[in-house]
Amino acid sequence: MYGLMRSLLFTLPAEASHGAAMSSLDLAHGLGFSGALGGARKGRAQAVTVMGIEFPNALGLAAGLDKNADHIDALAALGFGFIEIGTVTPRPQPGNPRPRLFRLVAQRAIINRMGFNNKGIDHALAQINRSAFRGILGINIGKNFDTPVEQAADDYLIGLRKAWPCASYIVVNLSSPNTPGLRTLQYGEELRRLLTLLKQEQLALARADGRQVPLVVKIAPDLSEEEVGMIATALLEFRVDGVTATNTTLARDGVRDNPLHTEAGGLSGAPLRQASNQVITQLARALDGQIPIIGVGGIGSLADAREKLAAGASLVQIYSGFIYRGPPLVREIVEGLAAGESKLGESN
Ligand code: FNR
Repeated sequence: MYGLMRSLLFTLPAEASHGAAMSSLDLAHGLGFSGALGGARKGRAQAVTVMGIEFPNALGLAAGLDKNADHIDALAALGFGFIEIGTVTPRPQPGNPRPRLFRLVAQRAIINRMGFNNKGIDHALAQINRSAFRGILGINIGKNFDTPVEQAADDYLIGLRKAWPCASYIVVNLSSPNTPGLRTLQYGEELRRLLTLLKQEQLALARADGRQVPLVVKIAPDLSEEEVGMIATALLEFRVDGVTATNTTLARDGVRDNPLHTEAGGLSGAPLRQASNQVITQLARALDGQIPIIGVGGIGSLADAREKLAAGASLVQIYSGFIYRGPPLVREIVEGLAAGESKLGESN
């Protein structure tokens, strides 16, 4: 069914197709037949505990697909173990001019320069409160494009305070390539200053309401091993609760045959897989199991998900693979991981 839908949707420009797909998903959910879309079936998942949270399964929806939390019920019905909404910014903003989303179909890749188009965090929180979803929800926060990078911490602190009551975990996105200067926050003193403020605020919020919400940092794939090592040192020093690796890449390896490769923005999907795995491997070595890793980047099959877990991730997420393969990919990974676990259990 997704194959047929995809053929129709892919005749539209990428962003219009995204909107149409989301509306169809909402409609299917509203009419009670999201089960027919081919997502994971109930009772066929392996739960995992990470950051003190029990996830019904290890596969999540990556940030950026449901930026405004407008579709969480319909997406959750496909069997994801967790949903990450955002990136949301303190104030609504339109993002970059269109076109800003490109499908590189032959390479199973996407280039985007959306630029944090979103309706603002207050809208997302209202949508979350209105939804029926009671599962694990990540809220991914960023800064407005017109907030100077030197004042980025102010925006993240607003995001942290506002997201706190609704979030299972909060992701500090330092790695979108489409907000000028954002990635500089991953380095040196800028990172330490930001983490100092965020950890202080996390502590204060936890004291005030007696509930802990893990803080996760999302990093880029375009980092040297030395840079990954320095980030890991800072994450350990500040006791950050988790790290998501990775966001999209500025590299164009594996897509140069496609005329669209010259479009500016972040590349995701299959060509990102190895670079993302490399960062996960380097992080896992540097973190030595002390901080869990959420692995994302180029997962298009159960084998790809297993590869990330083997590299050191405790959870995985998908975006581009979901665009190309739809709900059946969720089924393949969620049910495949559970089947793998029970086989391991039998042999033990
Ligand atoms: C993204 N991604 C993203 N990440 C993030 O932290 N905040 C965001 O707003 C977005 N927005 C976004 C839009 C689009 C169109 C794409 C394709 C991606 C990055 C995403 O969460 C993920 O890290 C990468 O896409 C790599 O995973 P895949 O796509 O290779 O599975």
